[in-house]
Amino acid sequence: WPALAGDVEAILALKRSRNAVVLAHNYQAPEIFHTVADIVGDSLALAREAAKVDADVIVLAGVHFMAETAKLLNPGKTVLIPDLRAGCSLADSITAADVRGLRAKYPGVPIVTYVNTSAAVKAESDICCTSGNAVEVVRSLNAPRVLMIPDEFLARNVQALVPEVEILTWAGHCEVHERFTPADIREVRDSYPGITVIAHPECPPDVVAESDFSGSTAMMMNFVTERRPAQVVLVTECSMADNIAAANPDIEFVKPCNLCPHMKRITLRNIRHALETLTQEVTVEPELADRARLAVERMLAVRP
Ligand code: 13P
Ligand code: SF4
Repeated sequence: WPALAGDVEAILALKRSRNAVVLAHNYQAPEIFHTVADIVGDSLALAREAAKVDADVIVLAGVHFMAETAKLLNPGKTVLIPDLRAGCSLADSITAADVRGLRAKYPGVPIVTYVNTSAAVKAESDICCTSGNAVEVVRSLNAPRVLMIPDEFLARNVQALVPEVEILTWAGHCEVHERFTPADIREVRDSYPGITVIAHPECPPDVVAESDFSGSTAMMMNFVTERRPAQVVLVTECSMADNIAAANPDIEFVKPCNLCPHMKRITLRNIRHALETLTQEVTVEPELADRARLAVERMLAVRP
């Protein structure tokens, strides 16, 4: 990316002078993922790694809830997000008051909250989960009934794998994954007989049912690099395939994929600006942070 080399050089120098690290989600564009990121991963890996960061500044190349989670787990650090508008349709689908309403309606039912939520929502929850550990988190509760919020499709996909537990949910959806349909999968299979289809569990259950494998973004990448299918479609955000295509020239990555407009708000230019100005800082009010941290730490204590 010759046109971007100036920004990359500047970011590398700023990381040294600011004692900063860049954590990047797997949906970040290749020119970020392969150049300035110190740590890349799925939401679970980024949470685990954020807790261990020893640098003074964490730049979260991802969306707002990821930056909040990093702040919860490492409150002494300065956590920056290059664009405060990088949100998430799932995080926007539920409020703390909604969770209190569910608690009142279903007394005694544990509340498992997807990390794609605000710290205020996490603070009202019993435990968090990611797409990489949701099944294990539900099983760890040993409860006959759980609430899994706010992603309806993740909850229904987990329900198919944990039939012994009744899973109640919420009507939140990921705006990127809800758009895939079983017809998309059938079209791809017709055009590429024998293709491997891998879908993120935020996809509707009828899409996951037509797929060969479903898992978090890191699990999808591991599946591809270990099994090495000749042709594969990653039913998720487009940067996933872009980020692993160059290192795997023997694998053909087929469309469809969708872009996440929130993830794509992060650019080399605004990462550079964040480090130059030490903005935009993400903070969480301490009392709320203590309650939210408990739910995240309970999740991290469950083996994925
Ligand atoms: P994972 O990386 O945890 O699979 O999450 C996907 C996602 O949509 C994050 O916003
Ligand atoms: Fe949220 Fe979906 Fe974008 Fe992930 S891909 S940040 S779940 S809107």
